[in-house]
Amino acid sequence: MSKKAQRTKDDWIPYARQCIDESDIEAVVEALKSDFVTQGPRVGYFEDGLKEATGARYAIAVSSGTAALHLAYQGLGMGGGDVGIVPSITFAATANALRHCGAEVAWCDVEATSGLAGLSNFEKTGDALVAVGKSPKLLVPVSFAGRLCDLSAISEYAAKHGAYVVEDAAHSIGAVRGDLRSASCDFSDAAILSFHPVKHICAGEGGAVLTNDETLARRVRSLRSHGIEKTPEILESEGGWAYAQTELGWNYRMTDLQASLGGSQLRKLDSNIGRRREIAARYHEAFGEEAFRGSLERPIPDEGSAWHLYVVRFVSKELRRAVYGFMHANGVGVQVHYMPVYRHPYYRTDSPVLQSGAEAFYSGCLSLPMYPSLSDEEQSYVIETMERFCNSTEK
Ligand SMILES: Cc1ncc(COP(=O)(O)O)c(C=O)c1O
Repeated sequence: MSKKAQRTKDDWIPYARQCIDESDIEAVVEALKSDFVTQGPRVGYFEDGLKEATGARYAIAVSSGTAALHLAYQGLGMGGGDVGIVPSITFAATANALRHCGAEVAWCDVEATSGLAGLSNFEKTGDALVAVGKSPKLLVPVSFAGRLCDLSAISEYAAKHGAYVVEDAAHSIGAVRGDLRSASCDFSDAAILSFHPVKHICAGEGGAVLTNDETLARRVRSLRSHGIEKTPEILESEGGWAYAQTELGWNYRMTDLQASLGGSQLRKLDSNIGRRREIAARYHEAFGEEAFRGSLERPIPDEGSAWHLYVVRFVSKELRRAVYGFMHANGVGVQVHYMPVYRHPYYRTDSPVLQSGAEAFYSGCLSLPMYPSLSDEEQSYVIETMERFCNSTEK
């Protein structure tokens, strides 16, 4: 491989970025010129697209993935005295939204190789809770990095304990595992998506709740807008203008500007995931070479993954720290996903129980640049820079 000149701030390669083209810009301009910039028809069109893309029966677009989590949990009735199980490797929002409902978080461990919490991880935490009389009310499998875990087995375990399942699919729209589509809600009560710019669909900010449950969909839709509904009773008694606030909700609405951008991005989802898969395959081949042996481990191949992140693992925390510095110094914006959430000061307790899978995964994980507009030339630079590190004495 040829050595390229070092990159600077101007041609820095981030670990992720939005891919906006002329059609996206035109879609937003069209919304700006229309009668509605919020509470208009474009939110519904986007929701229809999300239903088609995921296979779920109901989609409720909201202002962020965090809002979607909050509304899904709240809609299912999570509250004070309830416990939800959350994988310790995820973005903090997966757990924070439970705290917003007043519920408790119980952490479950993840597989050290993939960072994903599977059935055995949920079982271990769930069984320990049951043993002390605190049966979990909710399990939140996170389709981390774009990979689906065995949601069918997790939902069977949840059903045994009368617990709900919410798939955190912020990383995984478009992912499949056999016949199962992420966020289809085939094995969950609800799923959530995020439209933050680093995700597959950028809406500026945005999120969605998916579900096959009509009652839950109606409640989430109402909570998204202050808990206000046009009930038949109020319309009958007051007239067509009337609306009734039936419970305490929020303004978590998505604007028509966001929905236009999201809808335009959604049309490119398949081709963009195809490109992410090409990039993953090329990394996989390159990092299989001798130069990388003994330094980094590749992610387990997965044809169904939506490859939100491409996460390699280094053999030690010290090595990961060194490579992070080296890549940044050479213009490659690698990142760490994630530090176990229980390590954050807000969640830290006096007697922390460190989870072995999460700690092992965290100590070596590093996310490399992965986004559809990453060019072959840029990817070559990432691989060559990594090779220089692995051959260097800085290791
Ligand atoms: C796994 C996961 N869940 C939830 C969220 C929250 O999404 P948002 O940033 O749209 O609020 C994120 C965002 O990074 C995420 O990565």
